[in-house]
Amino acid sequence: MTRVFSGIKPTGHLTLGNYLGAMRRWAEVDQHRADALFCVVDLHALTVDHDPARVRRLSRQAATLLLASGLDPELCTLFVQSHVDEHTRLSYLLECVAADGEMRRMIQYKEKAAREQGRGGSVRLSLLTYPVLMAADILVYGTDEVPVGDDQRQHVELARDLAVRFNQRYGHTFVVPRATRPEVAARVMNLQDPTSKMGKSDDMGPGIVYLLDEPDVVRKKIMRAVTDSGSDVVHDREARPGVTNLLEILAACEGADPEKLSGAYTSYGALKKDTAEAVVELLRPVQERHKELCADAAHVEKVLRAGAGRAREMAKPMVDAAYRAIGLLPA
Ligand code: TYM
Repeated sequence: MTRVFSGIKPTGHLTLGNYLGAMRRWAEVDQHRADALFCVVDLHALTVDHDPARVRRLSRQAATLLLASGLDPELCTLFVQSHVDEHTRLSYLLECVAADGEMRRMIQYKEKAAREQGRGGSVRLSLLTYPVLMAADILVYGTDEVPVGDDQRQHVELARDLAVRFNQRYGHTFVVPRATRPEVAARVMNLQDPTSKMGKSDDMGPGIVYLLDEPDVVRKKIMRAVTDSGSDVVHDREARPGVTNLLEILAACEGADPEKLSGAYTSYGALKKDTAEAVVELLRPVQERHKELCADAAHVEKVLRAGAGRAREMAKPMVDAAYRAIGLLPA
């Protein structure tokens, strides 16, 4: 059976980008057709300036939202990264096959390091090595497929490269994984700046729809989205990034084709209105379920504990095999 792994980082409140680019597919497709693991990757949240209490809160919230979005612990394994030590054990071995140069070429590292430096802060070493830990997250489960949005594709490529390199040097150990992407909305853009990604770690902004935004807040944000000069509704990421973003969001909500959808609109106003209502309806059941789950925190904790137990069992033999292959004495 195909093994699927993916993760989400508790660095901020989860967004519509996270949902359309990743979470929705995990719940609607991946958990039903594959042996799937989904993870709140809390260690990754420590790579930038962080408040410990906030990371704890966001980790719980992310796990609750994953369940609310439809992940079923009977069908998949849901857990928190720091509960399974095997990720960090493997990460060190992979640091021994990764090269400094390839880490510095990672786009997200360059962007985030520049942002930290711009704020006068220092760049944590873990920000540089973060994609190696991400590779360990993936490789430790013998993962075949990694369902992610477009922004994570370069990191999955690195995981592939490290798997191939390790296998060549030390004998076949790892499955070489591949990224899978949604057909539409693989890169949801910020509503106020449609040339940059809708990212949860950005400052609270009117351009970001959060999964827990009230319906009226969602409507307001979408109605105020920046559109483009010109008034015709066309799907063209380069020339019309604002309108294209709205078409992609609406198409993703309705399971439609964004190109075809563009023909149905003659004004930006109508497109915004329909997109706003579609997003409100998309989020409604998730928000309702989230509310119910918040009243039962013990259930969420139980799911995470059981998930970590299962994940550990799957991960340990792989790390043991990698330790032996690379030349470490059995304990
Ligand atoms: P993170 O937490 O930034 O995002 C979680 C998932 O949401 C997708 N995503 C988006 N998709 C479309 N449009 C957007 N605006 C948007 N924003 C986020 C991301 O592509 C991702 O699939 N490094 C990862 C977490 C991670 C991971 C892993 C993922 C750690 N280890 C192993 C897969 C496998 C991250 O920061 O995702």
